[in-house]
Amino acid sequence: MKSLLITGGLGFIGSNFIRLLLEQTDCEKIVNLDKETYAGNPENLADFESDPRYVFSLGDICDAKLVSDLLEKYQPDALVNFAAESHVDRSIDGPEPFVQTNVVGTLKLLESFKRYYTAQSEDRKKSIRFLHVSTDEVYGSLVLKIPHFQKLHPMHPIVRTLLQKRELII
Ligand SMILES: NC(=O)c1ccc[n+]([C@@H]2O[C@H](COP(=O)([O-])OP(=O)(O)OC[C@H]3O[C@@H](n4cnc5c(N)ncnc54)[C@H](O)[C@@H]3O)[C@@H](O)[C@H]2O)c1
Repeated sequence: MKSLLITGGLGFIGSNFIRLLLEQTDCEKIVNLDKETYAGNPENLADFESDPRYVFSLGDICDAKLVSDLLEKYQPDALVNFAAESHVDRSIDGPEPFVQTNVVGTLKLLESFKRYYTAQSEDRKKSIRFLHVSTDEVYGSLVLKIPHFQKLHPMHPIVRTLLQKRELII
């Protein structure tokens, strides 16, 4: 993959992912769309500010026009979504940003990416990807006999609780 659109790349996992791409791969363009919420820290990637392969875009994944413009302009091989309200305890006092970003924002990203994907040639469709990063509270946990998640792996958050009770979780 030569060119990626990363969302939420100023956060904990996204910034480390971008660092790894820039330091250890031959990627040509990394576009980072981040809203710079309390969880996003520009210092995480400050040492790449002058790297011509790195582009930062301040904005919200709920902004469908912005997302579509970035997809059109940079024609990425993949969109990797790390943008999230991830500090779950905050949702008790203020659930709205969680619904906006995690639900509405993910939907907007998927819709924009679908339009982008549909316009690609049949050959290119085989290689471009939308990767949604989430958590075991959504996907469920792996069980001992499964080495890694696969495309057709069912999402099953309740498995975590059931397996924990049986001490099978890894
Ligand atoms: N940190 C972990 O240990 C861990 C473990 C498992 C899964 N995950 C999942 O990985 C994903 C990323 O986690 P993290 O720890 O890096 O999160 P984080 O809270 O550190 O970072 C989230 C980033 O998203 C940005 N963001 C928030 N709302 C946005 C919006 N509307 N538009 C654009 N950017 C927005 C923030 O500014 C921040 O930079 C989450 O889905 C999380 O559930 C994290």
